[in-house]
Amino acid sequence: MALTVLSCGSRNEDIPVYLDKTKDIEARVQDALSRMTTEEKVAILHAQSKFSSAGVPRLGIPEVWCTDGPHGIRPEVLWDEWDQAGWTNDSCTAFPALSCLAATWDREMSLLYGRCIGEEARYRKKDVLLGPGVNICRTPLNGRNFEYMGEDPYLAGEMVVPYVKGVQENNVAACVKHFAVNNQETLRTGTNSNVDDRTLYEIYLPAFKAAVQKGGAWAIMGSYNLYNGQFNCHNKKLLQDILKGEWGFDGVVVSDWGGARDDDEAAAYGLDMEYGTWTNGLTGAASDGYSNYHLARPYLERLRDGRAGEEGLNDKASRVLRLIFRTNMNAETKWGRFTCPEHYQAARDIAAAGTVLLKNEGALPLRVPQGGKIAVIGENAVKKMVVGGGSSNLKTRYEINPLEALEEAFAGKAGVVWERGYVGDISTSYNLVDTGQDLSDDRSPETLIADAVAVARDADCVIFIGGLNKSSGQDNEGTDRKSLEMPYAQQDVIEALAAVTPKLIVVNISGSPVSMPWAGKADAIVQGWYGGTESGHALVDVLTGAVNPSGKLPFTIPCSLEDIPLKTARQYPGIREEGKQYMQEYYDEGVFIGYRWYDTKGPGPQFAFGHGLSYTTFEIAPVKASGRDFAVKVTNTGEREGAEVVQMYIAPAECPVERPAKELKGFEKVRLAPGESRTVHFKVSDEDLAYFDADKHCWVAYKGDYQVLVGVSSDDVRASFPLSLSKTVEI
Ligand code: BGC
Repeated sequence: MALTVLSCGSRNEDIPVYLDKTKDIEARVQDALSRMTTEEKVAILHAQSKFSSAGVPRLGIPEVWCTDGPHGIRPEVLWDEWDQAGWTNDSCTAFPALSCLAATWDREMSLLYGRCIGEEARYRKKDVLLGPGVNICRTPLNGRNFEYMGEDPYLAGEMVVPYVKGVQENNVAACVKHFAVNNQETLRTGTNSNVDDRTLYEIYLPAFKAAVQKGGAWAIMGSYNLYNGQFNCHNKKLLQDILKGEWGFDGVVVSDWGGARDDDEAAAYGLDMEYGTWTNGLTGAASDGYSNYHLARPYLERLRDGRAGEEGLNDKASRVLRLIFRTNMNAETKWGRFTCPEHYQAARDIAAAGTVLLKNEGALPLRVPQGGKIAVIGENAVKKMVVGGGSSNLKTRYEINPLEALEEAFAGKAGVVWERGYVGDISTSYNLVDTGQDLSDDRSPETLIADAVAVARDADCVIFIGGLNKSSGQDNEGTDRKSLEMPYAQQDVIEALAAVTPKLIVVNISGSPVSMPWAGKADAIVQGWYGGTESGHALVDVLTGAVNPSGKLPFTIPCSLEDIPLKTARQYPGIREEGKQYMQEYYDEGVFIGYRWYDTKGPGPQFAFGHGLSYTTFEIAPVKASGRDFAVKVTNTGEREGAEVVQMYIAPAECPVERPAKELKGFEKVRLAPGESRTVHFKVSDEDLAYFDADKHCWVAYKGDYQVLVGVSSDDVRASFPLSLSKTVEI
């Protein structure tokens, strides 16, 4: 555009401020705004196609292009259809699911992830990446847990910040989703979340706040559900009072697709860009639907007849212009990179670093005699799972499954024989993206088990690779799971295998916790994830020991569904109440979710939050407690290089409210050679000691005696230090 201006014979100094990349962004925003008509301002506030909104063609201000997110760059879809457009150049690098990234407990990995996916987005000319997701894992049944970062607000907050920064280094906005208290898929567009303020501020907001204040996120996506009886895409308290008020967010609030539901509220309460499909994005289509969006014609009408004011319009339009100047029209041109060896390697490294060794009685790393036999049983050894799951569905250049990776790793060394064991989900396509696999199988469950046992019986080791997948009712957008168990009677297969082999390795691939009543019968258990393009390689790196496992659970694995803190229909999935239009769900458990529940009031879990083993061993010894500085020495006492995640929890002092037995407030991942030691320091702030006082509407660090607990999971504390606070502090 600058060239156009110059070619009209203007002198350099005549370049309008908004086009002058040397000028400050705010000056550019104000200049552009001053040149725009009301109609042009409204036009940039809503979609013009499934994933884009208009720019200002007259001024050369470009359109905004969004893409899902959060695990890779979505294939191009048709202008106004979810179906893919059939391009042949849009197969991306699929990165591991965010549950896997969270399991790395490694901020560097998160930065790497953000940088790589940001480069892919930039190369594909996208301005907004619809991710990452940081909704807290309140129930293990939530169909979208795999897209989120676990059950702890501190962990999610620490992990989201580098991701956002990495993405935005590429002049691509991270759009952190789904704001807020959106913790189930069941009736997600018609459920009102009733949450008290303490729970809201302590559990459900911190990761978003970190993304905004520490990560500097340029966009936030409102969620589908309601809170306080108001839809979250135009929720006054969440968007205006907290996000833009208390936190000072200067970016754009984007609606979830079809999540804006009311003309007046959309105009008034903090929504800046409306996306979706048809008029309300949810039900019927309308011709010329985009003009009927809440932030289109209805908003224009309100501006014209005075029901909506100029100031509100300018605020919304400024935010969108700021987004454009931060991304597409940024002073520093970036080009990105796409499907390159570096991205594949990053995907592999992250997937391996997130893989969690839950149990190991000697079966891992794999040791198979030359010419021996490895029996691999289970559908997830072969099923390609980059496709499916909802909006995070991807089309990838390639996807290595675990069986292929095992065959590659043991070529010329041992035979790898696969049997299915059970038939789960035979679908292979989603929104017209197809893996090209044929997963049909008409054997009976009995025959499948008998065939699997026959292969396993004389094998040197047996690896069962099962778990969930991304079809409806599993790890999938729009539906929740019905039970905590592995589906398709996989338990029967595991038990049958355990009866014929002493060396059974179970790999559970999922994005959410599954119950493991068979855990005692397995020699080793591995929690794997949807690993993306390099999924199989990463898993096999860990199984063979090429990578020493260092992943830690980002959520608790309970023994059974009865054990979880959500006990009533009121809590989950919600109830119908007379006189209320929408389902009501009540967060009666308050702050007691995840390990906060199991460690304080619940039964012990199957595997605790933060748990994960290594092929080496570590010792943790206290070395220093001075003031607010606490230090431990971590030593690798085994024979292999490895990494340990040292976790710092605070046990509270007595205070006027009931608090969890402990809460995570710090962690460091330490990589050590055999015999090597390192001292890890934790500094404890007043904030780390505080709870949210809803009446005072502030954080309170109550005077009294605290304990600083340092360990390797929420139920494995290795060192503890006393900490006294002599005076109550309000923050
Ligand atoms: C999902 C969002 C997604 C959007 C666009 C919605 O259904 O909830 O996470 O970004 O669609 O695909």
